Amino acid sequence: MTKRHFLSLLDLTPAELQKLILRGIELKAQHQCGENKDLFQGKVLGMIFEKSSTRTRVSFESAMLHGGGGAIFLSPNDTQLGRGEPVEDTARVLSGMVDIVMIRTFHQETLEKFAQYASIPLINGLTDNFHPCQLLADMQTYYEHRGSIQGKRVTWIGDGFNMCHSFINAARQYDFELRIACPDSHRPDANILAAAGDRIQVGNDPQWAASDSDLVVTDVWSSMGHEGQQDNRANIFAPFQVNNEVMRRAHKDALFMHCLPAHRGEEVTTEVIDGQQSVVWEEAGNRLHTQKALLEFLLNTV
Ligand code: CP
Ligand code: NVA
Repeated sequence: MTKRHFLSLLDLTPAELQKLILRGIELKAQHQCGENKDLFQGKVLGMIFEKSSTRTRVSFESAMLHGGGGAIFLSPNDTQLGRGEPVEDTARVLSGMVDIVMIRTFHQETLEKFAQYASIPLINGLTDNFHPCQLLADMQTYYEHRGSIQGKRVTWIGDGFNMCHSFINAARQYDFELRIACPDSHRPDANILAAAGDRIQVGNDPQWAASDSDLVVTDVWSSMGHEGQQDNRANIFAPFQVNNEVMRRAHKDALFMHCLPAHRGEEVTTEVIDGQQSVVWEEAGNRLHTQKALLEFLLNTV
């Protein structure tokens, strides 16, 4: 069998992605009965974090522990990566010591280089380009509440950055319509957009984007790495808040999602994120289950 990586949602076929959702649901039910114990017996996950994390770290580490395996947290501060050891050398060394690696870093190219030199599977735990693991949890959460997302209308409001790019890829792979409302200065990458074809529409009016929507999603206005631009961004993004007025444009049974961490009063109001339509806690919790399904898939296809 050939080694597979998960650097973006496009690395798996739509059928494989759908299977992961169903398997995530199955593993969740088994976890609730105290099962999952032998999934990763004797397996070790290496986790390189060049940016902060709560959910990604804890969900991956817990997934491995529940399955009888282990996970090693590696930060550039405490490893030779931070002192300039090349990623291609790190990839070859880790390939001899662990079974699978997850990296959270800035540039997608760092992941691609690691993947090129590694002989083990690699998972994207978030880059400036994509956050595919989050989308697995989001798609599982939608499926659990509303069934198939195929043909539904999804609304992205906010920064055309990593999460927005992953929603564009998800629209291709899970076959839904995506309306994006973002400032003209923060549109998604033109190539990622072009590759997704006419199922994606981009504008700068949140009310238009949310009209008749089945799922409304947003993310922080200043992602990790944008800290110095925070004040300017707060002004630019102020018209792109998800509030009750925006949610009223969506279908009555529309869901609200946010990958978290959230800033109440900025990209989303307290009423919306803590309201009836919000599924953010399940969405965060599902990271554990879909990532177990992903780890199982990648470890078993090596
Ligand atoms: N959503 C998400 O990836 O959260 P963390 O940054 O806490 O991992
Ligand atoms: N867009 C956010 C997502 C965090 C999970 C960031 O990159 O900081």
